[in-house]
Amino acid sequence: MKKKIDVVLGLQWGDEGKGKIVDVLASRYPAVARFQGGPNAGHSLQFEGHSFVVRSIPSGIFREGSVNVIGSGVVLDPVTFREECGNISKMGINPVERLVISKKAHLILPTHRLLDAASEAAAGKGKIGSTLKGIGPTYSDKIARHGVRVGDILAPDFQARFDALKQRHIRLLNDMKYECNPEENEAEWMAAIDFLKKFQLVDCEYYVNDWLDSGKEMLAEGAQGFMLDIDYGSYPFVTSSNTTCGGVCTGLGVPPGKVGRVFGIMKAYCTRVGSGPFPTELFDETGEELRRIGHEFGAVTGRPRRTGWLDLVALKYAVTVDGVTDLILMKSDCLDTFDTIKACTSYKIGGEETTHFPFDTAAKIEPVYTEFKGWKKDLTGVRDEKNLPKEFTDYIAFIENYLGVPVKIISLGPDREATIER
Ligand code: IMO
Ligand code: MG
Repeated sequence: MKKKIDVVLGLQWGDEGKGKIVDVLASRYPAVARFQGGPNAGHSLQFEGHSFVVRSIPSGIFREGSVNVIGSGVVLDPVTFREECGNISKMGINPVERLVISKKAHLILPTHRLLDAASEAAAGKGKIGSTLKGIGPTYSDKIARHGVRVGDILAPDFQARFDALKQRHIRLLNDMKYECNPEENEAEWMAAIDFLKKFQLVDCEYYVNDWLDSGKEMLAEGAQGFMLDIDYGSYPFVTSSNTTCGGVCTGLGVPPGKVGRVFGIMKAYCTRVGSGPFPTELFDETGEELRRIGHEFGAVTGRPRRTGWLDLVALKYAVTVDGVTDLILMKSDCLDTFDTIKACTSYKIGGEETTHFPFDTAAKIEPVYTEFKGWKKDLTGVRDEKNLPKEFTDYIAFIENYLGVPVKIISLGPDREATIER
């Protein structure tokens, strides 16, 4: 029987714990596919005493016999990719055997990274707080139809295509008066391109559809989160791809009717790295406490993450646009010590109460909270739903009721094993 593709999506501002959950679910899916984003992602996994951060490679890579697809909607930096493969090889895994890469994925050139840095340097106060991995400039070139794609590396005139794009970038960098050596990392990049040639480069849309049509399961792994989506996030403080469910269809070449379950991942509180609106952000000791307990420091850039209470208004928006069928609740154990736990259930904007996320990212939003009594128990060792404290299950029921979607998985720690399914 033909299968549908199930999807895992971050519902907040990224860093919800997608790596861990995909790794847990990967035992049920023989294939995992990334459909957007690039090395701006940092998906953390922990198992059997090892910890890993994957960037462009799907989080299914550590499961034996798995196939991992880097889809057309991804932007690939060959240098980061080679480094990642090197780390995976140290585990005795041969990435060449477990990965296929779409010919239509776009390549991040060394000069894309420079353009990212130049653009942020010129932005002053309007900085996006980009991860500086060249993501925005690469997607810009894709849309402007100047991009160089993975499949191009096999073309006899690849060097000429690379040079043409590089020259365009050099002109832009000169215009921006950004001081740099555009050729500094070129040799390393070209060596990484040779490494890339070892992999199976595919027409992703045929590969994925054939896979599903032959009755095999596949899981699509999103990067970033709903609120960073280029169309529906807090523009312009967003990433440059569609992190929403629609991105699965365009990024892998699967029709909407072939999308199956949509797992939406959320933390029990909120974090954000980089600039932009964050209605429930805390600037006090509670925020500091969340950062400390949740180890909220960027996996890619090491930056301290901004922290705040759960925002159900933003989540309802995400659940609606993404069509989430199953919720996955992460890091509730980080709230174990709090006397009172808060969740934002509406916004006050200009004196009016609303449950709609506003268009205007400069709008002054006052969050309206519902308060819950803390459970004040250590949840980290709990493996059976029956042993969860009532205050905690009440809190979950409130979330389910507000969002209209059941919580199917509760994660209570970074390890594969610290997971309860309902
Ligand atoms: P994962 O997949 C959290 C943020 C950056 C910045 C904005 C734009 O690990 O959840 P970009 O480099 O994409 O142009 O930066 O998006 N950002 C993320 N924040 N987690 C991520 O990925 C992110 N990827 C990008 O901090 O505000
Ligand atoms: Mg991250």
